Amino acid sequence: MKLVAGNSNRALAETIAAYLETPLTKAVVRRFADMEIFVEIQENVRGEDVFILQSTSFPTNDHLMELLIITDALRRASAKRITAVVPYFGYARQDRKPGPRTPISAKLVANLITHAGADRVMTLDLHAGQIQGFFDIPTDNLYSAPVMVRDIKERFELGNTMVVSPDVGGVVRARALAKRIDAQLAIVDKRRERPGESEVMNVIGDVSGRSCILVDDIVDSGGTLVNAADALLARGAKEVTAYITHGVLSGGAVARITASKLKELVITDSIQPTEAVRVARNIRVLPIATLIGEAIARTAHEESVSSLFD
Ligand code: R5P
Repeated sequence: MKLVAGNSNRALAETIAAYLETPLTKAVVRRFADMEIFVEIQENVRGEDVFILQSTSFPTNDHLMELLIITDALRRASAKRITAVVPYFGYARQDRKPGPRTPISAKLVANLITHAGADRVMTLDLHAGQIQGFFDIPTDNLYSAPVMVRDIKERFELGNTMVVSPDVGGVVRARALAKRIDAQLAIVDKRRERPGESEVMNVIGDVSGRSCILVDDIVDSGGTLVNAADALLARGAKEVTAYITHGVLSGGAVARITASKLKELVITDSIQPTEAVRVARNIRVLPIATLIGEAIARTAHEESVSSLFD
């Protein structure tokens, strides 16, 4: 097995490599003066089972292009099998046409990765499970749930806990987590009753006096999360914590979350946390390397990956 890392999240790649007791393959991924990406794999990979470790996180297009060029270099170097391990799959939110004459960019990115030469894809908490079908190559969608559930069980009195989806689109994900910890489920339903009127946050379920756990795949601007937390506290929730896999945290998101009434936001390190995230008073990062490392080991040994989530 060979592990090749792009530049998106070296810390995660190194921790995965340590778990697998396999050093990262020597490779140069650098820029020309005009910012073109240049890749050189500096070890023989002929006939090897190669895993590329690269989240397509900010700057998304640069990291995506790195992934494609590394894949091309490996294919031309006669790697036997190439697995693109993309813990955070950027562009996943563009998985359907929201209006006429709009793209389905998630499908385009799936095509690019496949045509570059990947034989398999491994990712984590895809925005929508159906995106697996955008690939005509085997695609493993891993779940951070076991890592999150372990953390929740250590910190919460489960009898008084309610799992909450911050929008209707996230109900399946939240329900799955609620089932794992045997908690009830509530839903924040955001609605604009009439055009021009501001959105109203309805909460489906009785959250009063409960410790609420908001569950989502992505926190980007933080707007969805902070609004949902406010709505829950306004309905009498005792406290609100959030468990969200991918901390995209663009723009002023960290400041917004720090200033909010959220007790804590827990994210994984699928995207490399910035210094602002690391020092934020109410953001905590759960390491995900062991789960990804184990899934890589099982893939390499042709063992079941799904049994990791039983
Ligand atoms: C949307 O469907 C996603 O699941 C997240 O809820 C969304 O991306 C969060 O975005 P923001 O933090 O900008 O509100």
